[in-house]
Amino acid sequence: MNPAARTGGWQRPGFLQARGGRLTMDGLDLVGLAEERGTPLLVYSEARLRSVARRMLGAFRQRHAHTTLCFASKACSAPRVLGLLRDEGLALEVNSGGELFKGLTAGFAPEQIVFNGVAKSREELAAALAPPIKAINVDGLDELARLVETAERCGRRANVALRLVPGVESATSAGNRTGSEATKFGLAAHELPEALAILRRAPEQLALVGVHAHIGSQIGDPALFRQSARSVMRLVSELQADLGQAVQHVNLGGGFAIPYVHEAAGAAQASAEQGGLFREEARPEAIADAVVPEIRAALGQQVELLFEPGRSLVGEAAVLLSRVEAGKRRDGRDWLVVDAGYNVLIESLAYKWYYQALTANRLDEAESADFRLVGPLCDSGDAFHDVEGEALLDGLLAREPALEGQRTLLESALVRLPRLRRLAAGTGVGDLVAFLDVGAYAYDQLTANNGRPRPEVGLIAADGGYAPMRRRDSLPDLLANELL
Ligand SMILES: Cc1ncc(COP(=O)(O)O)c(C=O)c1O
Repeated sequence: MNPAARTGGWQRPGFLQARGGRLTMDGLDLVGLAEERGTPLLVYSEARLRSVARRMLGAFRQRHAHTTLCFASKACSAPRVLGLLRDEGLALEVNSGGELFKGLTAGFAPEQIVFNGVAKSREELAAALAPPIKAINVDGLDELARLVETAERCGRRANVALRLVPGVESATSAGNRTGSEATKFGLAAHELPEALAILRRAPEQLALVGVHAHIGSQIGDPALFRQSARSVMRLVSELQADLGQAVQHVNLGGGFAIPYVHEAAGAAQASAEQGGLFREEARPEAIADAVVPEIRAALGQQVELLFEPGRSLVGEAAVLLSRVEAGKRRDGRDWLVVDAGYNVLIESLAYKWYYQALTANRLDEAESADFRLVGPLCDSGDAFHDVEGEALLDGLLAREPALEGQRTLLESALVRLPRLRRLAAGTGVGDLVAFLDVGAYAYDQLTANNGRPRPEVGLIAADGGYAPMRRRDSLPDLLANELL
């Protein structure tokens, strides 16, 4: 295979590049960094975080000046990351009292924070009232009633945005769809009259400031955002007519897809990843072009437009470095065991999420080969292929041999990750495997499963220097909170 083709696609000038056959981020040699700091190691780029945020904010504000981007902190709530996104002019989305606490600690003002969630407790609602945050995105009738009580008790008036169900079936993995009544989210159309009645009954406790919708994550098609905007605008006009007041803001949530598959030459090995989901990309310009005209036509130029991007702000900005600890030969295939599994990248298990891998210290090697790539944990499911999906397919074909003719179709439906990963042919024990685009939904979900310390997480600062922003767990950390 032509190495230029193999390594060409993932390189991002000035950010991720090969130098002397080694992976660099912002010019820093990640192979040397992993030797110095140990593995697994999760490394973020400050320059990338800032430039992505700046570009996204610029794209939206150019099309609608009164736009606020609330970073979805669940995607990465590292205090340093929150702080630098705040510096870039972003506001914040939180999904729990814990995230609210982290956001306030990172320096966000209450009036910069919006609060989502399907199960907000009285304590969490009270924390969101002291002082009142920008909006509590109320998810249901029970929550609205609970908020009236809590606001009364606290002697505060809550800023309420109603989370609506836009009725959009997003083209993403099932666990990441949130826009229809088939999911647990939002106030369904039949619940709105009751919600409005509660709002009318409690003007001292509730101020309706906005509406909210979020259709899911890793959504590439701007038309789905337009569909959501249209649906929300229909509901808003009914709401406004009923209450005789205008909303101040419309929040269309997050969900903008980023590409996880980069190299043209990797197409074959990546063909099994969920029907192209990981090739999707939703550019902010395209989303703004799709929704801004809808919102303006309905509510004018002055209305504030909010979005809650998470993945698209931080996903691309981090790499996971893992060491190959062992090799095996099974089934005529070469297997590589690396020191990071779903204890570090939990979504590779939970959602069969695809992260592109490459051998960070062999980027100039001309030959490539296919490997089974697996993690260090004690279960077979700790693998970067779809163990459950492959077993389902094999079981089905063993039971119904007549289905063999449909193997390709069944495989595309049931097996959600590539069986093999193409890496430099010489990859073996001691080499460094890098997983790309791991900046979203890994940091907050690190676990100490199997007694494996959670890894160091670091940041390459804008001046090119590296500093840890979360230290690796020590062995005593594994006993933290244990009552001995
Ligand atoms: C309500 C809400 N807003 C925003 C987001 C962020 O989504 P994404 O990271 O795909 O942009 C999520 C993700 O789960 C969410 O639930």
